[in-house]
Amino acid sequence: MSRRLRLAMAGGGEGAFIGAVHRMAAALDGDWELVGGAFSTDAGRSHRSGAALGLDPTRVHHDLAALLADEASRPADERIDALAIVTPNHLHAPMAIAALEAGFHVFCEKPMAMSVEEARAIAAAAKANGRHFALAFTYSGYALVAEARARIARGDLGEIRRVQVEYLQGWLSAPIDADGNKQAAWRTDPAKAGIGGCLGDIGTHAFHLAEQVSGLPVAAVSADLATHVAGRRLDDDVGALLRFDNGARGTLVASQVAAGEENGLRLRVHGSLGGLEWSQMEPNTLTLRWLDRPAEIVRAGGPGMDAQAAALLRTPAGHPEGYIEAFANLYRGFAAMIRGDEEPAIPGVGDGLRTMAFIEAMVASAAGADKWTRIDMGETA
Ligand SMILES: NC(=O)c1ccc[n+]([C@@H]2O[C@H](COP(=O)([O-])OP(=O)(O)OC[C@H]3O[C@@H](n4cnc5c(N)ncnc54)[C@H](O)[C@@H]3O)[C@@H](O)[C@H]2O)c1
Repeated sequence: MSRRLRLAMAGGGEGAFIGAVHRMAAALDGDWELVGGAFSTDAGRSHRSGAALGLDPTRVHHDLAALLADEASRPADERIDALAIVTPNHLHAPMAIAALEAGFHVFCEKPMAMSVEEARAIAAAAKANGRHFALAFTYSGYALVAEARARIARGDLGEIRRVQVEYLQGWLSAPIDADGNKQAAWRTDPAKAGIGGCLGDIGTHAFHLAEQVSGLPVAAVSADLATHVAGRRLDDDVGALLRFDNGARGTLVASQVAAGEENGLRLRVHGSLGGLEWSQMEPNTLTLRWLDRPAEIVRAGGPGMDAQAAALLRTPAGHPEGYIEAFANLYRGFAAMIRGDEEPAIPGVGDGLRTMAFIEAMVASAAGADKWTRIDMGETA
């Protein structure tokens, strides 16, 4: 099957942030065609958004249930293959379950849901309906993140002892959530964001990156959550000690009140033989440091890259690739998954469940008196 796959979008209307990024990413490799959407619950806004994208107005709705019913009634060679969910967090589970039950694959924004329980319900719906569920842990789409993962997996660093991950942003340093900033308002509302603020929004990215690159599950956390801006209802500053399954130790810091910071996601992993460092704001460089020889710098597209990691790049060395391309790698992997082609795995249900269990463990740890709180995967352990 080499036809373009058909995509509809829930959320991502005028003035929204991540929906436009999904559209660019899905378009990059020609695997996907956006054909419809419920871009907003405001009919005018949704239709203006659809018109600006040149969509057939009969496929633009302002209610996801109407979109799914309409698509399901269309002939197989016209109806969508998948739904992209780019709404605030509280809608992820109900929308994903409705789409899966209507027979469509789902590409969902993180965090997967509002709770482990909701995430399990999504997993069950995907399984029962035989549909794929992909999750937008964007940073796993970078070629040099794949390179770091490959080098650790093949033992270059020796036994892993320490994982340090930090994700620093400054955009919530002032009370912009109370001043009408739309993105800030829902992110600091527990009914829409969940039990974690900064924790769910970017702490989950940091946690996922740390586990994915190290290849090691975090067994337990010792967390401290703070809310620095007066009147804010969720955490805006997060710190934790991590204990990994193999005995490695780590730290995770995520903050949205690190004034002046942009999107400072940085990972360092050290083993018995050396360490590596990757930073999202310089994504085309991976630094390796050794116990017994000078440091090395691996550059995107340069010599020495792992073949699968290099296959995630589109341009020759020296042509910077970044956020959109990393996101596009997830859409390319999602298309391959649906077509049954061989491609590197992209984040899905398992990653979603672990990150939801991480959020719950962090909140319990910060509120409780025990020094360590296990990341409890319940029956899927
Ligand atoms: N992967 C990443 O790097 C990344 C980056 C940013 C945001 N996100 C995630 O993406 C999601 C959206 O974040 P954002 O910053 O784009 O938010 P946003 O507020 O900019 O956009 C949300 C959109 O959802 C729409 N919406 C709300 N309720 C709806 C409904 N019932 N039906 C249809 N549309 C509805 C809104 O009208 C808006 O268009 C969040 O879950 C967030 O965590 C992920």
